[in-house]
Amino acid sequence: MLDIEKVAVIGCGPAGIASIYELLHTTKDGESTVGKAAAENCKFKVTGFEQKDKAGGIWYPNFDEADLPVPPQDLLDTEKYNDPHVISPKVEIPSDVSGGVKKPTNKILNELEWKRSGIFRNLYTNIAARFTRFSYMENDDKYYDKSRRIYPFMTHIELCDRIDKFIETEKLNDYIRFNSSVKSVTKVGDKWRLVIKKTNVDLDEDEWYEEDFDGVIMSNGQFTVPNFPYSPGMAEFNRNFPNSLMHSNSYRSPDEFKGKRVLVVGGSISTINVLQYIVPVAESVAVSSRGDHPLYPWITKAIRSEGIDHKTTIKEYKPNGDVVFTDGTVEPRFDKIVFTTGYHRHFPFLNDKNVEVTNISRSERIKGLYYNTFSIEDPSLAVAGATTSPLAFHSMEGSAAAIAGVWSGAGKLPSKEEQKKWEQERIEKVGDNASYHFFAHTLIKEQYFDVLEKFMAKGRLNPLHVDGDHVNDIEKGIESIEKLFYKVKTGEFSIADTMNP
Ligand SMILES: Cc1cc2nc3c(=O)[nH]c(=O)nc-3n(C[C@H](O)[C@H](O)[C@H](O)COP(=O)(O)OP(=O)(O)OC[C@H]3O[C@@H](n4cnc5c(N)ncnc54)[C@H](O)[C@@H]3O)c2cc1C
Ligand SMILES: NC(=O)c1ccc[n+]([C@@H]2O[C@H](COP(=O)([O-])OP(=O)(O)OC[C@H]3O[C@@H](n4cnc5c(N)ncnc54)[C@H](OP(=O)(O)O)[C@@H]3O)[C@@H](O)[C@H]2O)c1
Repeated sequence: MLDIEKVAVIGCGPAGIASIYELLHTTKDGESTVGKAAAENCKFKVTGFEQKDKAGGIWYPNFDEADLPVPPQDLLDTEKYNDPHVISPKVEIPSDVSGGVKKPTNKILNELEWKRSGIFRNLYTNIAARFTRFSYMENDDKYYDKSRRIYPFMTHIELCDRIDKFIETEKLNDYIRFNSSVKSVTKVGDKWRLVIKKTNVDLDEDEWYEEDFDGVIMSNGQFTVPNFPYSPGMAEFNRNFPNSLMHSNSYRSPDEFKGKRVLVVGGSISTINVLQYIVPVAESVAVSSRGDHPLYPWITKAIRSEGIDHKTTIKEYKPNGDVVFTDGTVEPRFDKIVFTTGYHRHFPFLNDKNVEVTNISRSERIKGLYYNTFSIEDPSLAVAGATTSPLAFHSMEGSAAAIAGVWSGAGKLPSKEEQKKWEQERIEKVGDNASYHFFAHTLIKEQYFDVLEKFMAKGRLNPLHVDGDHVNDIEKGIESIEKLFYKVKTGEFSIADTMNP
């Protein structure tokens, strides 16, 4: 029998704020007040922990300072930089933490929190505006005006603003501790013991302390710790030619590519995203990708379109800077190499072998979760934000609503055996890889939301109750993003145009 009252929410991006909102709108009797005022007789005492100084996750970007372009040289030299445990390590907890302790800030470890966000000044969203909100938020008609250049998307400013207003209106900041990074989560008896590092930026000092909770929601994001694929010679290349390698996570502007020979590695959304800006200004652009895009044939075509030299994957970097590809071709040193090779799923703070990321650095899957949400072994540990889908915001909401429902006693999970059977069947059907977490927008209602709905608090509507009738907005978005790619790449739309929709 779950007895959960005091809850920690780790990370306050969209998934974390959806979780905090949902818990605050669930009563002791297992009723939902979502869409109305917060519950007066709320079941939960909620604390959000956010390592940045503001909530919003990647939608609280830092344009002036990006994350490190590549991990520090000593980490590259380990030749294990494709392992998230190396570039975003578990940190050593001070031995005297139990009574609270102050230590000088370790700046390198702070860098390895990768918290500055991959959003840059000119980013527009790639998901139709209806689906970059939670179902209980207003749906502003202005985004459906077809004369907008980026219809049906939003500029990042519009989306950041939408999220900020939600946080402000719902007074969610009152429940969040900022500059507070959770460094350890361990089950001790029937509680989860968290170790938190609170940074005092002005004093360059960290305060470490521990605190116990009944339930933990991990909502630390899956698009923050960059994936640098391993290639022989890459560490030496970086030493010989500093400032040449970077990840799209730290891309900020096309200016640094002007007149340069550029190689972009990858074949997905980030790849076409940076290509559209770089192609018009660079001397030459090549793309190194492996295979076709599994979902969007237009991306496979776009990365081979005019002005882009398509290459196979990288075999090795030579000491003189030459890059050798797997088809045997060799290119002289590129001025810039941009990895658009995605991010790691990673819970560096978690000490629980039941929930673990497998297939590290290849195609990662979180094992031990029921519907990407509940730890099968111990449902007082849960995840919000692990589902990948064009309906990302709604799926975070779905997890948050199911967690609040089960933890309030309104929803009952099936037996562990049944949950394990679900996990096993999904592995057999979809694969023991990242696709395991993916739900297509056309199937997600039936395969995900309708199941989670059974666990939600009384009166809680399915997140697709209304929005489910509009999933074809996603297809309109796919058509638009392809058109926008060619318009920006050929200069028909300037970067400024995309920010003046
Ligand atoms: C370049 C880019 C563009 C994108 N564009 C879109 C888009 O157009 N539409 C869309 O739907 N999605 C988009 N996404 C996906 C995006 O990740 C989601 O929109 C959304 O931000 C995910 O929310 P989240 O809360 O799960 O994670 P995040 O937004 O990453 O938030 C996680 C939060 O957890 C905090 N955190 C992490 N670890 C700790 C810790 N140990 N202790 C305390 N706090 C911690 C982080 O600081 C962060 O604030 C994009 C992603 C990227 C990288
Ligand atoms: N709003 C926007 O415009 C915008 C912009 C950027 C990103 N995003 C979002 O951010 C999220 C992450 O997208 P992403 O594109 O960064 O990551 P991603 O979708 O995970 O794509 C990573 C890409 O890198 C490739 N790759 C990995 N290792 C490689 C190697 N060694 N050589 C060549 N290619 C390699 C992968 O190929 P395989 O398929 O073979 O693994 C894949 O094509 C998505 O949700 C996306 O929608 C949105």
